Amino acid sequence: IVTKVNLKEKILQLKKDKNAIILSHYYQIPEIQEIADYVGDSLRLSQLAAATKADIIVFAGVHFMAETAKIINPSKKVLLPDLSAGCSLAESCSADTFEKFVNAHPDHIVVTYINCSAKVKALTDVVCTSSNALKVIESIPENQPIIFAPDRNLGQYIIKKTGRNMLLWDGSCLVHEAFSIDKLITLHKKYPDYKIIAHPESEEHILKTAVYIGSTSGMINYVKAHPNDKFIVATEAGILHKMWKEVPTAELIPAPAKEDNTCACSECAYMKVNTMQKLHDCLLNESPQIDVPMDIREKALVPIEHMLELSK
Ligand code: 13P
Ligand code: SF4
Repeated sequence: IVTKVNLKEKILQLKKDKNAIILSHYYQIPEIQEIADYVGDSLRLSQLAAATKADIIVFAGVHFMAETAKIINPSKKVLLPDLSAGCSLAESCSADTFEKFVNAHPDHIVVTYINCSAKVKALTDVVCTSSNALKVIESIPENQPIIFAPDRNLGQYIIKKTGRNMLLWDGSCLVHEAFSIDKLITLHKKYPDYKIIAHPESEEHILKTAVYIGSTSGMINYVKAHPNDKFIVATEAGILHKMWKEVPTAELIPAPAKEDNTCACSECAYMKVNTMQKLHDCLLNESPQIDVPMDIREKALVPIEHMLELSK
């Protein structure tokens, strides 16, 4: 019988035997966050993937994250516990259609959010994440027109903050678009002493209610900096585990989702396909592995390295 305890021990043993590292995003289930070597946002996880001396990188996150790790570090084995861990943002931007869009605007610089496929990154000048998006856009000369893809909500937020001329791709994250503004306002009226903090993938009407807007790590740092405040948290609910770990006394409520959503608070179904059993099995079998064809990898590496350089 495999119990929870010995599954954990087996994963730790396999990790040691195979010189593997487990990188986890904040949206993973608590058990995975607890067993990971590092838990971070998309930027931090890319930086860790670039710096690791491990032979195997197990990416407890979604496909575009593991693919980015493989592009950065092609000599390592990169494992994803479940290949069906996709992303609605990445899926909203097919490389063929995006290529036509880019070719139709040859005078534009192409900035893509890291939540996209390797093929889309290969058509990109510079990649960004939610924690460095403003910095990346501000590094581009003032009058230069920009294509920004695939997240229109993050794009609109950047336009509002920088006033830049950006052509937006019409993609979105289904998790951050599931928040109900009506329910959020009702909740806030009931608990007026709770402040709203939000991820910029959320829609503008949600962002307007927030005292702080930032990446997952930005939101965690904000809660850490305000340990006596109470918060309604508008991002994927997995982040609450880390917030409570950092500030055990924190009073947090996940932002409510629309009526037809499967979960009352927003959970990313893609992030949640990873389980401890799948984490164990992928380490044991060294499968499923992520592979990126060499021609795509070489082209996609350039805008990722550009981002890593800008984020030092
Ligand atoms: P960050 O952790 O970089 O803020 O990204 C959030 C996200 O949606 C990852 O899929
Ligand atoms: Fe993609 Fe949204 Fe899930 Fe992040 S939370 S992996 S952006 S669908």
